[in-house]
Amino acid sequence: MNAFAGKRIVLGVTGGIAAYKAAELSRLLVKAGATVDVVLTQAGSEFVGAMTFQALTGRPVWQTLWNDRMSHGMAHIDLTRGAAAVLIAPATANVLAKLAHGVCDDLLSILCLARDCPLLVAPAMNRQMWEHPATQRNMALLSRDGVKILGPASGDQACGEVGEGRMLEAKTLFDELYTFFQPKSLAGKRVLLTAGPTFEPIDPVRGLTNSSSGKMGFALAQACAEAGATVTMIAGPVALPTPRNVQRVDVQTSAQMREAVLQNLPGQNVFIGVAAVADYRPKVVSTEKIKKNGEPMTLVLEATSDILGEIAARPDAPFCVGFAAESQNLETYAESKRKAKNLALVVGNLVQDGLGGETNRVTLFDATGAYPLPSAKKIIVARGIVAHLASLMEKLDGKPCGKPRANS
Ligand code: CTP
Repeated sequence: MNAFAGKRIVLGVTGGIAAYKAAELSRLLVKAGATVDVVLTQAGSEFVGAMTFQALTGRPVWQTLWNDRMSHGMAHIDLTRGAAAVLIAPATANVLAKLAHGVCDDLLSILCLARDCPLLVAPAMNRQMWEHPATQRNMALLSRDGVKILGPASGDQACGEVGEGRMLEAKTLFDELYTFFQPKSLAGKRVLLTAGPTFEPIDPVRGLTNSSSGKMGFALAQACAEAGATVTMIAGPVALPTPRNVQRVDVQTSAQMREAVLQNLPGQNVFIGVAAVADYRPKVVSTEKIKKNGEPMTLVLEATSDILGEIAARPDAPFCVGFAAESQNLETYAESKRKAKNLALVVGNLVQDGLGGETNRVTLFDATGAYPLPSAKKIIVARGIVAHLASLMEKLDGKPCGKPRANS
């Protein structure tokens, strides 16, 4: 993934033990195509040497104001010109205090004051230092100045104490930075989606389910959150980690999923049915474990409610998106589902292309035609779906279904 191609990041490393995570972060950024200029403070260099960052980034490390590497000696100005962002990780209580008050007494603090690009900071310190009113006052000032604050996390600290103040992990910071650069096509929108399979009990130990992995739904929740939406995900039984900035509600049965959707529906702009909801469930659920007797057995099933169909039919329906996983005749089935449920958009895929795997190949069906997306990792496909969804929403003025405006 060349997610950072063409982007130059100035990575400030100050004096905290979490500096070792900055080495991993610079490796991840370089691997994703970024050019990384590391600015290492004196205290930072006590924890990780400049040679480590130089080897990882393939570029010289900046440590002092007083060098002649730039012809006119203006590293404090030139380093941020054309940079996509400055990220300070780890950011100690000291550097945060300096930034909050405009103190500039070394290369990093001066270039932050002189920068014309966004500044992100990843605080890292002992929990008492983090909780101290002085630090909290400084964080409020930085926030007000538009500085993006990443973390800190809570947990075991290098000092042996436990609490808030740990720097976020390198991969989390990488993801945060990636998200920061994503176009915010769903900013201000609220998205509700379902994901994963459902489980319909037969008796206390058995039930009917399906092989949905939940990966596509979770990827879509992540992509919506990256695009600036407030996301609520109603998830069937899957053991996947919750994407960042996504509120998750866990359910088992289709009835619980419907209930959770209805409860969370007010105020939503978009509803996406990604879940493979059971179409049928046992009519009677045995309260006791059913015993075998060697004879054939008949299970009587009854139809479940179609959650997506029900939401899309409401007079106050949000913008509705459905999924159609088919084993054949994709175009015919997906289009008929779109029309039958009155959906603005259907994401169709052949089960052999996506079910359970890490990649997917989908085609998007809306009132204007069919739009195939290339086969890719599910998160990449999810971002493609979000881009299409956002532009379609704009064309349709957010209506749940219908034709694009005449002038679009
Ligand atoms: N869906 C739903 N509630 C259900 C069944 C499906 O919300 N009880 C949603 C799914 O999340 C998906 C879409 O409807 O977005 C799937 O449409 P559907 O016609 O129900 O597909 P299948 O269940 O695969 O039906 P069929 O077996 O007829 O293909």
